[in-house]
Amino acid sequence: MKNFSKENKDDLYGLLLGPLLSQDDGIDAETLSNLALNSLKLASLKRNVPIFSNLLSKATINLQRNDSRLNQNIFGCNFKNPIGLAAGFDKNGVGAGVWNYFGFGFAELGTITWHPQRGNPKPRLFRIAKEKAALNRMGFNNLGAQKFLKTLEEQKLEPPGHRPIVLGINLGKSKITNLHDANKDYALSLELLGPISDYAVINVSSPNTPGLRSLQETEQIKKLIKTLKNLPNCPPLLVKISPDLSNEAIDEIALVSKQEGLDGIIAINTSLDRYQLKNRIIKTGKTLSQESGGMSGLPLQKRGLEVINRLRITMNNDLPLIGVGGINSAKSAWERITAGASLIQIYTGWIFEGPRLVPDILDGLVHQMEINGFKSIKEAIGSQEPWK
Ligand SMILES: Cc1cc2nc3c(=O)[nH]c(=O)nc-3n(C[C@H](O)[C@H](O)[C@H](O)COP(=O)(O)O)c2cc1C
Repeated sequence: MKNFSKENKDDLYGLLLGPLLSQDDGIDAETLSNLALNSLKLASLKRNVPIFSNLLSKATINLQRNDSRLNQNIFGCNFKNPIGLAAGFDKNGVGAGVWNYFGFGFAELGTITWHPQRGNPKPRLFRIAKEKAALNRMGFNNLGAQKFLKTLEEQKLEPPGHRPIVLGINLGKSKITNLHDANKDYALSLELLGPISDYAVINVSSPNTPGLRSLQETEQIKKLIKTLKNLPNCPPLLVKISPDLSNEAIDEIALVSKQEGLDGIIAINTSLDRYQLKNRIIKTGKTLSQESGGMSGLPLQKRGLEVINRLRITMNNDLPLIGVGGINSAKSAWERITAGASLIQIYTGWIFEGPRLVPDILDGLVHQMEINGFKSIKEAIGSQEPWK
């Protein structure tokens, strides 16, 4: 069996960023992300200029896999493989044209709000290095739906269905919009961005916009789904839920999603729970329980798996599930898929482990499929086969 994590530490990413990512202090986490995003933005704009496309292909060739056993058609979209970039990293869609080079089968852009907004005061993103976790209270900082559309147009992407990768958009409520007017706010963004998206996500689970998570309540979410589904350009529509919901509330939202004709559920967003880390002191000098924001990364792995298991049982395979939260290895990806997720997403794990994580997961999945005699990744979904 391949030693995935060992190889990871030997690659360029590990050599360059390993020392930085292994400590809470040092370069601010958001500054580091922005540096990466600026490079991705340039790469995406120039990706069709021969010299750039050669460079990009050479730099990323080892990250890509092309194995038809990993293909799936879900809610009408062709996914080359089941790994996606989770929402929140590419909030403004600047790297939309290059996420396929990193081996992803899909990328979720956003969260985008109708109104541009700065988000919360900085610092607002913290590494919790030893525990492979992060705390963020970004607050949906983004340039707004109209600028998002321009950014995607500038990259001259192919239309939905003809791209090398599935591109989803994750929509949130603008902070200045009153909760009573939330539906209108989401609808304005979706009306504008629906035509350029392969799928859209109703984000009602971020802990950093006051009151947002109350939209997960049955009557509220029903109305919101109805409003959005009735729009003429509504693409496949999913909802992203919080790990902090009770199991009963998860069952409820699953049933509503089914009744209202949603196309899938994404579980889970960041958590207000501090798990075993309540007294962990972070860069600010305060403990995690004294700091606001949502936790991500390894501490969410157990709850993320639990929620997918719960949803599989409640939904009885009626709706595609996307598993996210604490996935940082082929094993954790396999566990989420065999628990019932058709697709998975990564964020914090990708930052800590580096770009090698995508091919390492894909190789690990194929290896497990072979051991189990599965001819397609579809056979693994919900199979409950343990990692061997
Ligand atoms: C810095 C940061 C920003 C995030 N922003 C968003 C966001 O804008 N919208 C969203 O739906 N999820 C957002 N998330 C949540 C992730 O998409 C994901 O659900 C969560 O981090 C759990 O996955 P992970 O453990 O792989 O990071 C954010 C996460 C992080 C770490």
